[in-house]
Amino acid sequence: MKGIFISLEGIEGTGKSTQSKLLAEMLTTAGYEALLTFEPGGTRIGQRIREILLQPDHKEMSPVAELMLYNAERNQHLHEIVLPALERGAVVITDRYTDSTVAYQGYGREIDIKLLKSIDAISTKGFMPHLTILFDLDVQVGLARNRGVNKVDRFELEEVAFHEKVRSGYLELARLEPERIKVIDASLQPQEIHEKIKKIVMERLCR
Ligand code: TYD
Repeated sequence: MKGIFISLEGIEGTGKSTQSKLLAEMLTTAGYEALLTFEPGGTRIGQRIREILLQPDHKEMSPVAELMLYNAERNQHLHEIVLPALERGAVVITDRYTDSTVAYQGYGREIDIKLLKSIDAISTKGFMPHLTILFDLDVQVGLARNRGVNKVDRFELEEVAFHEKVRSGYLELARLEPERIKVIDASLQPQEIHEKIKKIVMERLCR
């Protein structure tokens, strides 16, 4: 595997989609093949699974059905998009990957982490990013930002307490894996955030 795999993670409204584009542009300018993708939905099949997952009126979805759909989508995404690009030597940037499942379905929905790992062993065979940028932000600030742009999906409708569990889950993951997961303060100005990400990524690429 010649490429570098980078994931961006965080709760709702942290601005990671904007930053992912800036990062991809910066890498392209620097002469890398940068491939920007996302979950759920980076493939044709994933897009259909995304609709099922995020539709606001799918309130009856069980936590395990939700878990399985994210994993199905991830396996498709990994094999169709991520692995071929890494084989070519590209820098692959994905807006969300397995840490989202641990944070949302594990810490948020309280599904046993061991069960999550056993399903992940099927969907990714434990294939992890080389680097993960975690965008950390106050929950109320993040939710308000998304409401400001009229973004409503099944997760935005969850209570604040759910998002608090997701946020602390993410921070716990970063504490457990400080080498891979780098935390960024998402309340900073976009340009400042971009500079910090650039530094972290270039350091990893030049290793
Ligand atoms: P999306 O519109 O892509 O949101 P964002 O801009 O916040 O990334 O919606 C994806 C939603 O799916 C988001 O609320 C997080 C959730 N999610 C999970 O619960 N588990 C997962 O494994 C993934 C990938 C996403």
